[in-house]
Amino acid sequence: MLIRPMGAEDIAQVAAIEVEVTADPWTSKQFQQSLEDHQCLVICRQDTDSRVPIGYMIFTTVVDQAEILNIAIDPNYQGHSLGSQLLNYGLQSLPAVIQAVLLEVRVSNFPAISLYFNYGFIEVGRRRDYYRTEFGREDAILMTLQRSVVDAGKVDAGEVEN
Ligand SMILES: CC(C)(COP(=O)(O)OP(=O)(O)OC[C@H]1O[C@@H](n2cnc3c(N)ncnc32)[C@H](O)[C@@H]1OP(=O)(O)O)[C@@H](O)C(=O)NCCC(=O)NCCS
Repeated sequence: MLIRPMGAEDIAQVAAIEVEVTADPWTSKQFQQSLEDHQCLVICRQDTDSRVPIGYMIFTTVVDQAEILNIAIDPNYQGHSLGSQLLNYGLQSLPAVIQAVLLEVRVSNFPAISLYFNYGFIEVGRRRDYYRTEFGREDAILMTLQRSVVDAGKVDAGEVEN
């Protein structure tokens, strides 16, 4: 697999994946704006279509904290460690000044919560009824990861391109 910065040419494919993985998808405009405001990575298959993203991760940094705003893998490729590779790559690429990584996740999103636990994130709080669902609202779990845990748990992110 290949991990590289997201570009404007990736937006259509990324937005198409987004619609498949969440009931409340970001718009193409939000991804476009993220290219200007945040750090955006894509993971691509390394074959004839190697430039076509099959997953993405968006995070932002403020002073000494980072926040993961979005991460997803195309449903056709989930369960093959690509989300892990992408998350690990993003964590390893954080500037040295970053001391903690934050995120919010739906309380029902077991695959994502499990992925984050694997990387040392811990639950630090909840926001009641934070997310819309088909049937009403659900809580957000707030999770954080300390820099020391990132540094202690370095994992080879595989073959990547900067
Ligand atoms: C969360 C997501 C990015 C994980 O990507 P992935 O490539 O499928 O994940 P991986 O194959 O690297 O698996 C990593 C861990 O996630 C967990 N996981 C993955 N799929 C799972 C599933 N169907 N059920 C439960 N846990 C699961 C496991 O803990 C797994 O580690 P393990 O294999 O050592 O047990 C992916 O499921 C996804 O895109 N979901 C939709 C978008 C989303 O919810 N994003 C997060 C928003 S906060």
